[in-house]
Amino acid sequence: MKKILVVAMLTVIAVSGAFASGQAESGEEETYVIKLSHSTPDADQIGQVAETFKELVEEYSGGRVMVENYPHMQLGTEQENVQDVASGSLEAAIVYTGNYKPFAPSSGVLMLPYIFTNAEDAWNGMDSVFDALNERVVEESGTRIIGYFDRGFRYLTNSVKPVRTIDDLEGLKIRVSKVDIAIETFTAWGLEPVPMAWAEVPTALQQGVIDGQENPYATIWSHKFYESQDYVTEIHYLIWTGPIIINNDFYESLPADLQDAVDRAGREAAEFGRQFALNGEEEAKQKVADAGMELLGPPQDEEVWQERAQSIWPQFYDGVGGEAWVEEALGLMGKM
Ligand code: MLT
Repeated sequence: MKKILVVAMLTVIAVSGAFASGQAESGEEETYVIKLSHSTPDADQIGQVAETFKELVEEYSGGRVMVENYPHMQLGTEQENVQDVASGSLEAAIVYTGNYKPFAPSSGVLMLPYIFTNAEDAWNGMDSVFDALNERVVEESGTRIIGYFDRGFRYLTNSVKPVRTIDDLEGLKIRVSKVDIAIETFTAWGLEPVPMAWAEVPTALQQGVIDGQENPYATIWSHKFYESQDYVTEIHYLIWTGPIIINNDFYESLPADLQDAVDRAGREAAEFGRQFALNGEEEAKQKVADAGMELLGPPQDEEVWQERAQSIWPQFYDGVGGEAWVEEALGLMGKM
């Protein structure tokens, strides 16, 4: 009995400690502070999603939930952010699904190569699995998704040669994110990719440690990759998708009306992000072309890239929550 009491007391101390940074007293009504971290400058799409979330949740909660945004990796890398949101030392973050998946494997179903054909298809996919995925990621990581948006296809850039066919990849040192799906897909294309944390990429490109990388036009522009990269090949294996995540215990500690405010603001901020990406892609593409990059369009043999990448789907099933979940998710998306 004594032991149970001690464990119960320690749990109460741990839980109240975890929320110390998230709550503040104000007169009779409790107010809450959400520290939200992301990896891009404020003016970038992701920064704008963060600002939109802040404005909306502060409005919908009548000022009882306040948001402090921390842009540009001030609070660490995306994977560190996910870890911190999972532990409760940070309330919220916006991250690439590739950096979320190591902690919330089931989200990886959105990264199966060539699963989405365009942005609208990805929106439908994210929306159809939203609730089922949330049940799983809360269990897997202690984090909850409150909005999911995209940033466009991840296109291949390099500084060495025009890549027009799969054979042109030979000899290139291409950085990929540290996620098995990206690593194995590039391996299936005959490369030995270089997995590297996102924070190291700009310098590695500048110093020629790597020849290339893959990311949406928005990123190529906002991170000035045109300064070191000459060619863009529009491979369509993966759409950048990213969740707005929140610590689930913190979320559940909020009164119901504030949970609603957070949910509504998260979904609307994500919707804003989707439209921002759709409208901004052509502009970012034009800007990188004006900055001197040669845009090569899709590979001439795109079906070979697709066949090779899709042939290895089964090897990802265990890492994205299991084959049954993949089937359930594809069913929800109307892709079975
Ligand atoms: C990555 O390549 O690691 C991500 O796409 C970076 C990002 O979140 O923009």
